[in-house]
Amino acid sequence: MNPKQSLGVIGAPIAHSLSPLLHGSLIAKYDFPFTYSAFHVENDMLAEAIYGAQALGFRGLNVTVPYKKAVLPLLDEIDEFALKVGAVNTILFSDGKITGYNTDVFGFLHSLAVENVSLADRDVIVLGAGGAARAIVLAAKNARANSVRIYNRTYEKAVALAEKTGSTVLPEDALKSIPDNAAVINTTSVGMHPHVGESPFPARLFRPDCVYIDIVYNPQNTLFLQHAATVGALSVGGIGMLILQGILAMEIWSGKKIDIQDNFVALRDLLVQALWSH
Ligand code: ATR
Repeated sequence: MNPKQSLGVIGAPIAHSLSPLLHGSLIAKYDFPFTYSAFHVENDMLAEAIYGAQALGFRGLNVTVPYKKAVLPLLDEIDEFALKVGAVNTILFSDGKITGYNTDVFGFLHSLAVENVSLADRDVIVLGAGGAARAIVLAAKNARANSVRIYNRTYEKAVALAEKTGSTVLPEDALKSIPDNAAVINTTSVGMHPHVGESPFPARLFRPDCVYIDIVYNPQNTLFLQHAATVGALSVGGIGMLILQGILAMEIWSGKKIDIQDNFVALRDLLVQALWSH
């Protein structure tokens, strides 16, 4: 019998990562020949960690905060879309080569599909202008949004991201006049545990015709999503994106197709349970 190959997630901090639970569950269900662990990697040891994993015969790694950009120069090949996003969250070691992928973007789009939400033909407002915002702007464009506009606390950063991604900036005074049926997507960390009493969007501006999407998954029901529910608007939380980026990464490592419908509810319950007991 072949020994099991190692998988893992690298980041700093990493102690509260849900990825070992998520992947452990997929490995057990499908009897994949892998083990999956979390590794805390210091900033000055990133290259050693990647090449060390390769030397040890790892099959792959997930890469999380703060290394999604920093790993790029260490890779032999980068998937075209990951290169466009400028961030890699999944690494495959294969045939002596290190290849980088980005499953966050399609994980995000698949998570909307699970909830029957489409960005096609919608006007999209992206809140935030960091690395996550860049991925979501490109996801919205890939999903053929009608328009993509960026609102950010620091205006200059919104301008820079808009220029890089071929989108436009939404000034603060235009927040109150966003188009009908728009999608408002939070890509900032505002509202994330332990700051659960904060929201990136003013409560008075929520409308029933718009859809509100949060990539924050801890807590599952952020204040942003609660405000959406208060006006009866459609909303989607971040846990689906977490699940789907993981499923897509496991497909890359295993070479097997994993059915989303067969796994989504069970994985969501598992992760939500883990968030509660943290
Ligand atoms: P990431 O890679 O996760 O996107 P980042 O690159 O540090 O992280 O970007 C964080 C984003 O969240 C930025 O757009 C930041 O706004 P600024 O550009 O003004 O810093 C936004 N953000 C973080 N905390 C915020 C807060 N309390 N209020 C509003 N925006 C916030």
